[in-house]
Amino acid sequence: METTKILLDDNEIPRQWYNLLADLPNPPLPPLGPDGKPITPDMLAPVFPMNLIEQEVSTERWIDIPDEILQILSLWRPSPLYRARRLEKALGTPARIYYKNEGVSPPGSHKPNTAVPQAWYNKQFGIERLTTETGAGQWGSALAFACSLLGLECKVFMVRISFDQKPFRKLMMQTWGANCVASPSDETQAGRDILAKMPNTPGSLGIAISEAIEQAVTDPTGKTRYSLGSVLNHVMLHQTIIGQEAQKQLAKAGEKKVDAVIGCCGGGSNFAGLAFPFVNDKINGAEIDIIPVEPESCPTMTRAPFAYDHGDTAKMTPLLPMHSLGHSFVPPPIHAGGLRYHGMSPMISQCIVEGLMTPRAYHQLKCYEAAITWARTEGFIPAPETSHAIAAVIDEANKAKEEGKEKVIVFNWSGHGLMDLLGYDAYFQGKLTDYSLPQEEIDKGVEELKDLPKPEVHKTGKW
Ligand SMILES: Cc1ncc(COP(=O)(O)O)c(C=O)c1O
Repeated sequence: METTKILLDDNEIPRQWYNLLADLPNPPLPPLGPDGKPITPDMLAPVFPMNLIEQEVSTERWIDIPDEILQILSLWRPSPLYRARRLEKALGTPARIYYKNEGVSPPGSHKPNTAVPQAWYNKQFGIERLTTETGAGQWGSALAFACSLLGLECKVFMVRISFDQKPFRKLMMQTWGANCVASPSDETQAGRDILAKMPNTPGSLGIAISEAIEQAVTDPTGKTRYSLGSVLNHVMLHQTIIGQEAQKQLAKAGEKKVDAVIGCCGGGSNFAGLAFPFVNDKINGAEIDIIPVEPESCPTMTRAPFAYDHGDTAKMTPLLPMHSLGHSFVPPPIHAGGLRYHGMSPMISQCIVEGLMTPRAYHQLKCYEAAITWARTEGFIPAPETSHAIAAVIDEANKAKEEGKEKVIVFNWSGHGLMDLLGYDAYFQGKLTDYSLPQEEIDKGVEELKDLPKPEVHKTGKW
């Protein structure tokens, strides 16, 4: 029988997170405060616990994972690496396609890989309650799950459009004991201000982040902190367990060389998690195409400038050096709610600036088509976010066929779509359309960045 799943034992779970900051030729520029000067760790203390702030700024290459965290992660990790033989056959490609199935976690995506450590470090620091935002609901349910296992309270601001599109995600959060409200809400000043200006807004991750931060920093007990599911360095760090496992599994499968590493990109965390160990290989001379994929309707990496911008709409976060469509940008209400973010992880942005990654953007109809091809060959139903990665994988596999090359393609199957079936329903009923962001919209966002400090562009020109 041909092997489909490449598995690792529980005790083969990676014991350390890999920090790409130790190896990037030019690490990202520092975040800036309101005075335009680099922020100091203590300025983040009202928002995050100091033990996570230390990870955020660390340049140590390897960081030990505490045993209690490993024990919880072992509920679903190491996650299986699958060979997508049925898809290969259907496409008639000589490429060998592998995918990391992150949909096997209790909430159904890669998000608990960081939710569990974030809840754990907050608990160690004496924090009792976490606030957060969620787009598609995968992150909110991951943090709800982690908080329930570690005994913390959890409050989630869910982007209005996803709150309406994905009612079952809210019920999952409730099942794990969290409180989930639609954003913008009337519970915060940031939410009330937006509702006064745009009462019918579909919401955005930028708005929901403002609400969650505001609730954390205004808690008079000082026992609440904010938790972010993507973008920041410590989140990328926690996800690197995916790529480390994948490398061991590929070696077990007898693969000596990887040609393409692919993942969808919202704030960058699942992609970083798989890709960063391979970025290290590329820095050390390996020839690998490292491809993050985003929606055409929210083209942060492919059409937005590399700039300093706020991570949220109400400008509560420091200025981050990243590709950004502008903090006021409200992305069109596509079903891939987790990819509707105006910015991008500074670490991924720096990899793009450096030429280590080559991003691309796809329309949603092509992605749904790819998701259906996937479900009808490989069986598992992907999240709409994940379908962006699948569309790129199919393109790469078809290219390998045209070129007659036996390429090895690895991608991150970031989550299942069993809570996203209303999106599939809209697709089947022909209600979905493609949407390219008009240039005027991009220009409007860029206008907003004009008065902010400009990041210097550091690149070696090697890739
Ligand atoms: C299944 C899935 N994949 C991908 C993403 C995008 O986030 P990130 O870029 O941080 O991985 C999300 C976000 O909600 C998601 O739920």
